[in-house]
Amino acid sequence: MSPYAHITGWGMSVPEHVMTNKDLEQIVETNDEWIQSRTGIRERRIASDDQTSASLALEAAQRALQVAKLNPADLELIIVSTSSPEHIFPATACLVQDRLGAGKAGAFDLSAACTGFIYAMTIASQAIRSGSSRNALVIGAETLSRFVDWKDRDTCILFGDGAGAFVLQAGEEQAGVLSSVMRSDGSGGDLLAIPGGGSRFPATKDTIEKGLHFIHMSGREVFRFATRVMVQATEEAVAKASMKLDEIDWVIPHQANIRIIEAAMRGLKLPMERSVVNLDRYGNTSTASIPMATCEAVQDGRVKPGDKIVFVGFGAGLTWGATTVIWSGPLAGAKRVLPVRFRMYARFRSLVNRVLRRLDAIIWGRRNPYI
Ligand code: ACO
Repeated sequence: MSPYAHITGWGMSVPEHVMTNKDLEQIVETNDEWIQSRTGIRERRIASDDQTSASLALEAAQRALQVAKLNPADLELIIVSTSSPEHIFPATACLVQDRLGAGKAGAFDLSAACTGFIYAMTIASQAIRSGSSRNALVIGAETLSRFVDWKDRDTCILFGDGAGAFVLQAGEEQAGVLSSVMRSDGSGGDLLAIPGGGSRFPATKDTIEKGLHFIHMSGREVFRFATRVMVQATEEAVAKASMKLDEIDWVIPHQANIRIIEAAMRGLKLPMERSVVNLDRYGNTSTASIPMATCEAVQDGRVKPGDKIVFVGFGAGLTWGATTVIWSGPLAGAKRVLPVRFRMYARFRSLVNRVLRRLDAIIWGRRNPYI
C-alpha cells in the first residue's frame, strides 16, 4: 500500500522589524482606520538589508526539521515556493539545500504566487505517495517588501515578509495530506503581476522608470475572484477526501484580507472561530502565510494531532487551490537532532565542495575532461 504524506515538522521565521499602519501614514496618504477596516492588517514585518528569502527560508526550515527530528541529510526533496526568489536562477531552494547540508535532496523553486504553498505541498505529498521520496521539505518564503512600490498606497499597505516550512514524511497510518485541488486561469494574469525583469520586459532603464519591477494589482477584481474560488476549492478538496465540511476542525486560509476570509467562511457556512487568522500582525506574506498561520495555531495549542484541516489559497496567475489534511506530528521513534551540529556540517560540506571544484578547475584548466 502506498504511504501517506504526514506533516511531521513545522517552523516559521519573520524579520524583527515591525512596520505599523501608523508608520505607513508617514510614507503614503493612508490611515490606520482605513487599512484596518478594509484589510484587517495592523502591522507587518519588513526584512532588514541582510535578510533575504533564502535566509528566512533557512531559519524556518531548520526549525521545522528540529520539530520533525529529521537530519537534513535524510531529505530527498526540497521545494521552495516563492514569488520573491533571490535570483531568477539559481533556485532559492538550491541555496537552502546547500546551507542545510541536504546532500541527497533535489531542490527547485515553485512559482504559483500566494497559492504556491498548496501547490508545493501537493507535489511533495504526491512524491511521497508514489514512493519516489520518503522525506520532503516544503517552504514558503517571501521578501515582497523588495518588490513593493512604497509610493503606491493600493499595494504597499498589504504585504509583509516571512517564511514558513513543513516537513512531510512517509507514514503508514491514514493521515497527512489526503486530497488536493490545484487550479489556474492565466486569462487573469494581468490582474496581479510584477511585469518587469523577466524575458518579456528584461530590466532596462526604461522598465525601471516605468516601475515595471514593482507589484501591480487590480485590488477589486482580485478581491472578487478570491471570494469566489476560496469556497469552491475548499468544498472540492473536502469532497475529494470523502469528508463533509462540518467535520473540518480548521480552515487555514491564505492571509490576504480579513474580509476575504470572512466572505469565504460565510460561503462555507462555517463560523469564523474555525478559521486561523494572523494577518493582523503579519499582513499578506503571500506563499508564506499558510504555513506561518499553521505554526502559530500549533504552537498555541489550537491545532492538535488528529484535527482535520483545509488549507486554501489564491493568488497571482491567477492560481488557487486547497488541500485537506489530518494533522499528525513527529513520527513515532524519531530521535532528537542537534541543529548546531548540522549547521556546522552544512558549512563544512559546502566549503569542501567549493574547494574541490576549484582544485578540479586548476587540474583540468580549460580542457574538457571528457575529450
Ligand atoms: N489608504 C486610504 N485610501 C485608500 C488606500 C489606502 N491605502 N488604498 C486605496 N484607497 C482609496 C481608493 O483610492 C478609493 O478611493 P475612491 O473611492 O475615492 O476612488 C477607496 O479607497 C476605495 O478603494 P478600493 O480599491 O475600492 O478599496 P477596497 O475596499 O477594494 O480595498 C483592497 C482595497 C484592500 C486592495 C482590496 O481590494 C483587496 O484586498 N483586494 C484583494 C487584494 C489581494 O488579496 N491581493 C493579494 C493576492 S495574493 C498574491 O498573489 C500576492
